[in-house]
Amino acid sequence: MKIGNKYTVIIDDNDSNGNGITRINNFVVFVSYALKNEEIEIEITSINKRFANAKIINIIKPSKLRCEIKCPCYNKCGGCSFLHTTFHNEKELKLNEINKLFNSNIKEVLTNNEYNYRNKATFHVKDNKIGYYDEKSNNIVEFSDCLLLDDRINSIYNYFKGSNLNKIDEIIIRVTSNETMIIINGNISKIDYNNLIKKYKISSLYLNDKLIYGNAYIIEEINGIKYSIYPNAFFQINYENMILLYDKVKEYAGTGNKLLDLYCGTGTIGIYLKDNFKEITGIEINKESIFNANINKSLNHINNIHFICGDASLLKKDNYDVVIIDPPRSGLSNKVINLLNNLNTKKIIYVSCNPKTLKRDINLLSNFSLKKLECINMFNKTKHIESICLLERK
Ligand SMILES: C[S@@+](CC[C@H](N)C(=O)[O-])C[C@H]1O[C@@H](n2cnc3c(N)ncnc32)[C@H](O)[C@@H]1O
Repeated sequence: MKIGNKYTVIIDDNDSNGNGITRINNFVVFVSYALKNEEIEIEITSINKRFANAKIINIIKPSKLRCEIKCPCYNKCGGCSFLHTTFHNEKELKLNEINKLFNSNIKEVLTNNEYNYRNKATFHVKDNKIGYYDEKSNNIVEFSDCLLLDDRINSIYNYFKGSNLNKIDEIIIRVTSNETMIIINGNISKIDYNNLIKKYKISSLYLNDKLIYGNAYIIEEINGIKYSIYPNAFFQINYENMILLYDKVKEYAGTGNKLLDLYCGTGTIGIYLKDNFKEITGIEINKESIFNANINKSLNHINNIHFICGDASLLKKDNYDVVIIDPPRSGLSNKVINLLNNLNTKKIIYVSCNPKTLKRDINLLSNFSLKKLECINMFNKTKHIESICLLERK
């Protein structure tokens, strides 16, 4: 087999990354955007020791689950993996992967909004072009409407697309239910800021690290709780699915005296559970996030939560009723695993955006057993999936 070789194949299976899987002389080939049972003409694009990758040249017999692809940038920006199939099939493929990995029998993926859910976008600028980076290079992919973005972000993007962007490197747009923040990184440009602010009701405008108009942060509100969002703060990308996730955490956590929110970011989950526990501690490594968490604490007049800035391994041997962990994709360090195994807690709620590290960590948390597992399609159309599980002390 060589790069550029062409074959006609039948797709045997799908993975959860939006690829079809076939075998040529027993060698595995992943075909981007192909679906099970399709007959397809493919071209090999790369080969390594264990498998090859290929692209579709011609679909001879399409699957009934194939959809018209609504985005002209689908195979360029690399953000979406499931525009070529039904929403139902996307959820099924993700569910199958989770059930296979955990030997579970989850029937349904929780999710709310198929499109236009992203409340934040980072656009790169090069040679007066603005857009996403091409998946395979640093070339800019321009578009007119990204199907995943909140409509307000698409409108502002199109305003910038028609402007002189000389000397600008990057533009970040963040929205909440009622507010919009723009962060422009680079040198002063010829953009008509006054027009931009008026036209799009901007609440906060930053040039590099400097606030040049409006408020330092924008606010999102969930069930009466106010969350501040600073330019660099982590905040869940999908508001409606964030509520699904946080309500699930609340259900699993129940009530009690002491709650530990490890990897707490801006304190959002701990604050969401403020009425369920007498005393809440949040630990987070990022200084800005902790600053933001304390703003959130005072915005909501909360007295039963305190935040510690530092590594998750700073967690103290305390009698926590519940520990929530929401680490980055890499999962937990061995040190944190050991501390958790020896912690006098009955319940751990593990929120994860990487099923593989979740599985690894659950096996290592040997003093706990998996009681409940659910998945949330936080990032519809992309290959990502969020999982939440309840672990109880053995
Ligand atoms: C997936 S985010 C979770 C944020 C938060 N729970 C939320 O829902 O908004 C993971 C967080 O872990 C923090 N983090 C990464 N490594 C860490 C470490 N070693 N110790 C503590 N926090 C860490 C990151 O800064 C980030 O805020």
